[in-house]
Amino acid sequence: MRQHVNPLSSNFNQIQRIPSLSEMFGDSKSNLHLDMGCAAGEFLFDLALVNTSWNYLGIEIREKLVKNAKLKVIEREIKNLYFIFGNGNNILNDVQNKFIIKNLKSISFYFPDPWFKKRHYKRRIIQPGFINMLSNSLQKGTLIFIKTDVKDLFNYMDCTISSSLHFKKINKKDFNYSESFNPTKFKTDREKYVIVNQLDIYEKIYIKI
Ligand SMILES: C[S@@+](CC[C@H](N)C(=O)[O-])C[C@H]1O[C@@H](n2cnc3c(N)ncnc32)[C@H](O)[C@@H]1O
Repeated sequence: MRQHVNPLSSNFNQIQRIPSLSEMFGDSKSNLHLDMGCAAGEFLFDLALVNTSWNYLGIEIREKLVKNAKLKVIEREIKNLYFIFGNGNNILNDVQNKFIIKNLKSISFYFPDPWFKKRHYKRRIIQPGFINMLSNSLQKGTLIFIKTDVKDLFNYMDCTISSSLHFKKINKKDFNYSESFNPTKFKTDREKYVIVNQLDIYEKIYIKI
């Protein structure tokens, strides 16, 4: 089993300069989706190759995965996919990176690390302060997607996001996936594992109002 990276380690306090959207993407005006904790980025490669009218950005805290994903993007000459290494919370909290949040159409938090022990909850990627920052900075209409196979983590994320009056839940059956970042409903690596092992999946979609 892989060792989880502690996002609160001081190694992640220093934020590298993040390139502008026009440096990241061939067409910086396309709709932008952000996947937080994208691991090796396979899900984003699937999306970027099929849904070329969207730009995809992945943030991942394991450096080697990001290095490999970036090499693959260059080799395959993909112009609508970019990866950033670091703690996603620190990166998005940095005032210099507000341009990312302002341009997002949607964000996914898919199968984030659960950090089961109560004293480790502060390492979870969804935090009250982080959601508060998003609620103040995201454009109206931006969507947040969460998915996990850990019920306790789902309740924690749902409660944290729902506590903000700026987000409203969307009924999954009313949601039109064909117009979203994931028109063909690709699955992440963890979701594929969860399906094969017949575990439960808890998910929710929220819209910034
Ligand atoms: C359980 S994996 C799920 C990966 C992928 N989303 C999936 O569904 O297959 C969680 C990923 O989030 C990354 N991660 C955890 N905390 C993070 C943070 N604060 N910022 C960026 N990535 C983070 C981990 O390194 C790991 O790759």
